[in-house]
Amino acid sequence: MLSKNIKILAVGDIVGMGAVEYLKKNMWNIRSELGVDAVIANGENACDIRGIGTSEAGDLLNSGIDLITSGNHIWGRRDIYSFLEEESRILRPANYPPSAPGVGHSIINVEGYKVLCINVQGTVFLDPLDNPFLAVERILSAEAGRYDFSLLDIHAEATSEKVAMGLCFDGRINIIWGTHTHVQTADERILPNGTGYITDLGMTGPQNGILGAEPDPIIEKFKTQMPQRFSVVEGETVLCGAVFEIDPASKRCVSVKRIKTG
Ligand SMILES: [Fe+2]
Ligand SMILES: [Fe+2]
Repeated sequence: MLSKNIKILAVGDIVGMGAVEYLKKNMWNIRSELGVDAVIANGENACDIRGIGTSEAGDLLNSGIDLITSGNHIWGRRDIYSFLEEESRILRPANYPPSAPGVGHSIINVEGYKVLCINVQGTVFLDPLDNPFLAVERILSAEAGRYDFSLLDIHAEATSEKVAMGLCFDGRINIIWGTHTHVQTADERILPNGTGYITDLGMTGPQNGILGAEPDPIIEKFKTQMPQRFSVVEGETVLCGAVFEIDPASKRCVSVKRIKTG
């Protein structure tokens, strides 16, 4: 019997409460319109750019999002620390020191399949965390035999680090995408050994600021090097992400489609 392909929507960094409200209202419709079986979303900027609070995380997980990944901004809201310890459907990058609250990978159920979800952070132009390549290798070894498919959110600044991650794990992880830059890249593709890949999903939030933030304080900071307070810019939410389709028989990703609403 042929089993149906699995479709997973990956959603780029959610920026601001307007985006959280948009997803709360529309996620189930988006799921059925795209025909996806699961949604993974990066939520590191859900609460006013810096961080995600317990209430936003809970709302997103109750609104059709199966798992939240994150990145360098995950520590912006103190109340998320205990939530990270209690809830395995939200990840912080796996390569933080072991003392950091929460976990960097977990296994979710998608249409009866066990899907290993991993989140790591790059170290080029970001904090000097553990080597993300070696962190992923360790997780794959530790979880070997316990999952059917796997995916990875590499939260990183440098495109080279993300592409290297893609090719390093091509054929060993089914889907790999990048987050963090908030700018969607047009390089979605299936890598030679069958991994679905895109360097950056882009941002889910208002598109007319600077990476989702009000422009003036950021321009002022660039001009003066003086600290500024950033806030989310006004505007309609645009969802950026990608839909990946895996064929369970061949274990290959057979399609990657970039999404940008509006
Ligand atoms: Fe972000
Ligand atoms: Fe980030």
